[in-house]
Amino acid sequence: MTTKYTPLKDHDTPIKVLFTGYLCTVAIGYLFALIQILFTHGMADGKFGLSVDDIVYSYYGNRSGTALEVKLNGSMKDNASDQERFAIMKWVRDGADADDYKDDGIQKIIETRCVACHNKDTASLPDFTKFDALKAFTTQDEGATFSSLTRVSHIHLFGISFIFMFVGLIFSFAETTSTQYKCIAIGMPYAFLITDILSWWLTKIHPMFAWLVIFAGMGMGISFAFMLVTSILEMWLFKPVFIDGFGAGYLQRRDSPDASIADRVWAVLKALARSIKPVALFAKEQWLIHGLPWIKDLLKSLKK
Ligand code: HEC
Repeated sequence: MTTKYTPLKDHDTPIKVLFTGYLCTVAIGYLFALIQILFTHGMADGKFGLSVDDIVYSYYGNRSGTALEVKLNGSMKDNASDQERFAIMKWVRDGADADDYKDDGIQKIIETRCVACHNKDTASLPDFTKFDALKAFTTQDEGATFSSLTRVSHIHLFGISFIFMFVGLIFSFAETTSTQYKCIAIGMPYAFLITDILSWWLTKIHPMFAWLVIFAGMGMGISFAFMLVTSILEMWLFKPVFIDGFGAGYLQRRDSPDASIADRVWAVLKALARSIKPVALFAKEQWLIHGLPWIKDLLKSLKK
């Protein structure tokens, strides 16, 4: 195979040092990003480690109740009778109104049951002698706000696309991967990046999409790791890895005339596209014969 570019292994050493320095620094940055995710999102459900719940709480919020209700059903349960707790929760559900606070006797309950501990002398606990301090626990946790999502979205799109610009550019000089696979590896992070950002917004709307956040994040990480490892190995360890070592199969596969997986996927996609046309024609025919007359009849019968 003739190449129109200088393969990674044939670049001058200064360029290799530059490429390697960049890749290693970005890899460390990536590592810190993962740690940061563990500490912010990872703790969202109160337990260490990243889970689907964490993603849901971070973007959609914990809508199983307000913080006050969660506490009243949890660690604060024994501090008030069932009726009193019920009264407080009802007041919260009705909007935690300041006037109702006095009128419904909620203030009395709080003063007798809670203020013994929750007062200005206990600095570690919120002071419930102040209405605003209590009120703060009566709002629904709705996760990320739209303004914070907008901010993080544009920062990520601009910043991360730049990282993949350079990682992809370096990797495009790789020679152990066929052109098809290179296109996939280079294009993939962008597709995953857009999916990732989109999935935050979707998760904000429905918690089901939390899986998409994880899937897209992993896809981005895998394509990044693949490009980084391949580039560094080709620059510094070409002979031991790709000629004498475990990577020897790559070069054979690249030059083999057999259809690659990407070729086969492409063939399937083309076949699918061909079969869509008759299906669309059939659907149109059925619509004209059955669907449209049925709707016309329906409209007529409605007019009568
Ligand atoms: C015996 C002392 C005591 C009483 C009485 C008490 N609390 Fe607490 N409360 C605590 C402590 C200690 C914590 C922190 C530990 C925890 O969250 O379980 C806390 C935490 C809370 C929190 C969460 C605060 C935060 O910063 O996240 C809320 C809300 C709360 N209490 C509400 C109430 C309500 C409402 C009552 C009255 C029905 C009440 N508490 C009565 C000791 C008390």
